[in-house]
Amino acid sequence: MRIDIITAVPELLEGPVNQSILKRAQDKGLAEIVAHNLRDYGQGAYRQIDDKIYGGNAGMVLMVEPVDQCITDLKKERSYDEIIYMTPDGERFNQGIANQLSLQQNLILLCGHYKGIDERIREHMVTREISIGDYVLTGGELAAAIVTDAVVRLIPGVISDETSALTDSFQDNLLSPPIYTRPAEYKGWKVPDVLTSGNFAEIEKWNDEMALKRTQERRPDLLND
Ligand code: ADE
Repeated sequence: MRIDIITAVPELLEGPVNQSILKRAQDKGLAEIVAHNLRDYGQGAYRQIDDKIYGGNAGMVLMVEPVDQCITDLKKERSYDEIIYMTPDGERFNQGIANQLSLQQNLILLCGHYKGIDERIREHMVTREISIGDYVLTGGELAAAIVTDAVVRLIPGVISDETSALTDSFQDNLLSPPIYTRPAEYKGWKVPDVLTSGNFAEIEKWNDEMALKRTQERRPDLLND
């Protein structure tokens, strides 16, 4: 899978997409994550990428031309399954959307900055709009990093234990049960007996019950989805 991220601040993506599991996914050839600096497509001697909002409101907007030229260049190289604009007024990101996107070949993630982006890009080029939550970030970069992380870790082979992505919280609209590791007792704090019993049927039953209990207590909304 290839993810092209278009941004005015590529430095913001460097850490999140080039460390740990995302780095390993790229080293193994399972994912290619490429940041494109909008400034390279800027207009005129000053490489301008933003301008004032028409109509007098305060703030700057990313201009049509640099974004159009960057996307057009990318489309010459390959076809894209989705061109996704990261924006707080998009559809709310969740595990289901991560699952869908992980099945695609080529994605563009477009990061807004300043007040946002000229509406004509959204109308004519963007195919999907995603928000990571009801709060406003300074730009779409951190949101794009989050979507990239959630999607790439689902690609088969990226996480060494193949079942582990499938047993994540949210995969069945259930939160994960509590988990423990050794020692079985620390300062008198004990791991539940069932987990050290060796009875795998009982352990599975306990995990299912605890996942349901935790979901009922913390996120009952998930059970109605
Ligand atoms: N850009 C700014 N805020 C955002 C959010 N909440 N989700 C996605 N992109 C954003």
